[in-house]
Amino acid sequence: MIPLRVRVPATAANIGPGFDSFALALPLLADFEMRPARLWSVTVEGDPAGIPTGEDNLFVVAACATAATAGRSLPPQHVTQRSTIPTGRGLGSSAAAIVGGCVAANAALGGPLDRRTLLRVASDVEGHPDNVAGALQGGFTLTLPTEDGPVATRLPFPSAWRVCLFVPSRSLSTDEARAVLPPSVSRDDAVFNLAHAAALVAAILRADGALLGFAMHDRLHEPARLRLVPALEEIAAAARSAGAFGAALSGAGPSVIAVAPVRLAPRVAAVMEEAAAGAGTSGRARVLRVRTAGATAQPP
Ligand code: HSE
Repeated sequence: MIPLRVRVPATAANIGPGFDSFALALPLLADFEMRPARLWSVTVEGDPAGIPTGEDNLFVVAACATAATAGRSLPPQHVTQRSTIPTGRGLGSSAAAIVGGCVAANAALGGPLDRRTLLRVASDVEGHPDNVAGALQGGFTLTLPTEDGPVATRLPFPSAWRVCLFVPSRSLSTDEARAVLPPSVSRDDAVFNLAHAAALVAAILRADGALLGFAMHDRLHEPARLRLVPALEEIAAAARSAGAFGAALSGAGPSVIAVAPVRLAPRVAAVMEEAAAGAGTSGRARVLRVRTAGATAQPP
């Protein structure tokens, strides 16, 4: 079995109304090198705090689940992880590790599983499909649940649009941010999100920024998460007033994304940082292109 190098992008999920369904791939990458070894182990370069280094590491769990789904056995490997995806910021760092494990194991075994099956395995390990679909496929992805697991479709993101990403200094666990969600929603709120999610897809297909501005609102998760990310409203309002089409929590938060036309994006990022500081939240904002490529596997 040959060594492999897998690169997986960060993802911003939900994008407002697409709770557990939409994701954008971003050019912050997790890089994994996998080599045959006597025992499974993971070396985490950079900031290893809190990341398991044994068989409970998400990359390893996902790699073993992939092999089991293929009915094959994967000999133990040593994995070196280098990542520029900050953890606990709603940027899909766990999805990147899971997709990394799935893609690496599948490549090492000669590709027995198709993309849809890999998505199902990754989604089962992660618990929701949006981030893993974006990490696997790149671009803008939407996923829908079916009885046989999630189906994902990838759409190109308008090339004249940028993502302005504010990443707070402090982290928030996805479990905590999911625990505050109400167990059920009203019909009004369900209809609100249904219409907004459909409009968001149309806005992306047509590169219609005005429609995106109407579409990028949510009633299923952001209202409940406001108490965990109190600066969200100020940051989003500042982004819109500086020319962003819309703004939303990135995944479960606490990062915030805004989508803006290229020429306004630097100003939007700057005001997001200022508004956050004014609301007592430190962090950094930057301008990113959506990453077209999803996860890739090749020899190191
Ligand atoms: N859709 C998930 C959530 C994304 O909002 O909880 C987690 O990053």
